Order: sequence, then structure tokens, then C-alpha cells
Amino acid sequence: MNEKINDLLKRVEEFSPKAAADIEEFRIKVLGKKGELNALLEEFRNIAPEKKREFGQKINTLKSRALERINSLKEEYLNQCAPSESAGDMTRPASAEELGSRHPISLVKNQITDIFGRLGYTVAEGPEIEDDWHVFSALNFPPEHPARDMQDTFFIEKNPDILLRTHTSSIQVRTMERQKPPIRVICPGRVFRNEAISYRAHCIFHQVEGLYIDENVSFADMKQSILYFAKEMFGENATIRMRPSYFPFTEPSAEVDVSCNLCGGKGCNVCKGTGWLEIMGCGMVDPNVLEASGIDSKKYSGFAFGMGVERIAMLKYGVKDLRLYFENDIRFLHQFDSAL
Ligand code: DAH
Repeated sequence: MNEKINDLLKRVEEFSPKAAADIEEFRIKVLGKKGELNALLEEFRNIAPEKKREFGQKINTLKSRALERINSLKEEYLNQCAPSESAGDMTRPASAEELGSRHPISLVKNQITDIFGRLGYTVAEGPEIEDDWHVFSALNFPPEHPARDMQDTFFIEKNPDILLRTHTSSIQVRTMERQKPPIRVICPGRVFRNEAISYRAHCIFHQVEGLYIDENVSFADMKQSILYFAKEMFGENATIRMRPSYFPFTEPSAEVDVSCNLCGGKGCNVCKGTGWLEIMGCGMVDPNVLEASGIDSKKYSGFAFGMGVERIAMLKYGVKDLRLYFENDIRFLHQFDSAL
């Protein structure tokens, strides 16, 4: 009897379940109706009366030890498998929710569309996967123009007619095909160029294109609209200058510089001592472009402009490396939490 009690006690102490089900099985085996403990009690009935006290105590100890052990093992398993069911101190304050914020590129893109919205422009969009016509041909790019080159443009599979748009000027074309003048649209979007990634270039970036077509639209209208934009974006003291340039889809064409808002035009290392920062290209829409989209170039004229959102954001917020926009480093992004 003594041996049997000691043996069972030992097995109770050493019992190590592999799964929660093992515990219940062990409980039935030891404490169940037909279990080992009841078998011992059965035997206990027949032992000599003078030994009853000693064995009675031993069996009681064994029983309470077995109960204790099984209950504590059950609790251990419950905690492991369902932590939420025993969530600990329910009065503890909840951990704070991390709130996201707008990405600087979205912020600046929204600012640009808002500013032109105040001048009556509405937002137009177009597909990122485009065809040669909307990205090049309708915009007066001659067939041998270098911008069509494989090195600049991502083409889709082996069909050179399908490509990823290299600029948002394609949306100009789609708008003119769809809409009769007067047209006043602002076209934000993602563009793609086969460029090596560096602090100043990326193969994916964002542009905003603008297009204004009506009767009697002049270069002076364009200049005033862009000056208004520059002041709204960079502050009341901002001024602009225009340098002659060339784009296939505009004639005449210009490059627009804004006065450097860091040094106030005196010259610093951001504006490379010139006092000016390049912000966009623009020009009067080439009559060929109007005609290609079915607009009468004798009756209508217009202007267009295009800018890089990353570049405007860099100049506005002093960001020196373009790659930061794409890395999603929370320390970088949180700096824009309080921006518009
Ligand atoms: N599409 C030009 C580019 O990607 C930017 C541009 C220049 C757009 C002049 C225009 C424009 O509408 O008139 O570099």
C-alpha cells in the first residue's frame, strides 16, 4: 500500500503534459470514478485498523496534491493558449493608438490642386499605363525624339505602343479629346522613367500638369497664373522669372524659376548662389497639339505647365534626398504631422 501511494504521488509530481488534453486524461486516470485514487481507497477498507490512521493521512495528502497539481497545470495551459481571456489587470490604461498622417507628397499635391482650384481649375486624371499616342505622338514628339528612347521609357512587354507614362502631359491630350474648350484642368499623377535611383532622381515620381484653353488666352495670362501659384505655395514674397526653353508640345516654351525662399534671393548653397530655383516647365500649347486632339487652333489658344511634386516638396520643406519620400521611415514622415 505504502509503495503504491508513494508511486502515484511521484507520478503526480513528475507529470508533464504535452497538450491541454493530456491533463484531463491524467485527471480521469487518477481522480476519476474508476481512477487510481479510488482503487487505493477500495484497498484502504481492508487494511488493519491500527494502520488506518497513517494510510488515511497519506491518501488525503496524495489526493489534495493531485488536485492542486492538475488545477495549476490547467491554469498554466489556459494562459498560454488564450492570453486575451486572462488579460491581466483590466483597469490599466489602454495603449495609445498610433495615428497616421498624410505623406508629404500627398500634402504638396493637394496644396497644388487647391491653389489652382481657387483659379477655377478642376482635377483630371488618366491611366498610368498609356499608349504612344497620348504620351508622345499627340504631343508633337517627332518619331525620332530621344524621350521615346528605351532608356527613358518603360515599355510593356514587346509592344512598343504600350508604355508607362513618362509625364502627366498625357492627361492634357485625354482631356482635350473628351472636352470642348473652355478647358481648365489640373492633372496630378504618378510617372515613370527608367532612371538610376539617386538622391535627385527616381524611376517613379509625381507630376502635376495644368492646361488652360479658351479664346484669346495669352502668355501674360500664363505668367500671372504661375506667379499667383508661386506666392500661394512659397509665400507672399516669392517672385518668378522665365527662361526660354523647348518642349515639343508648347511654342514658345519656358522654364520657370522661383526666388529662393531659403536665402531670399541673395544666393545660398541650395540655389547654388543664383538666388533662383527651377520649379516647372510651361508654354503656349502648340497649334499642332490642339489640332491633333480636334481643337480649332484658329479659334482657341492656351497654355500648359508641368511640375514635379517631389521637387516642389523638396524646396518647400528643405528635403535634400528624394529617396526619403519612398522609404517610409516614420521619423521622416512624422515631421509633416502638423503640415496642412
Ligand atoms: N511634360 C514635361 C516634363 O515631363 C513638363 C512640362 C513642360 C509640361 C512644359 C508642360 C509644359 O505642360 O508646358 O518634363
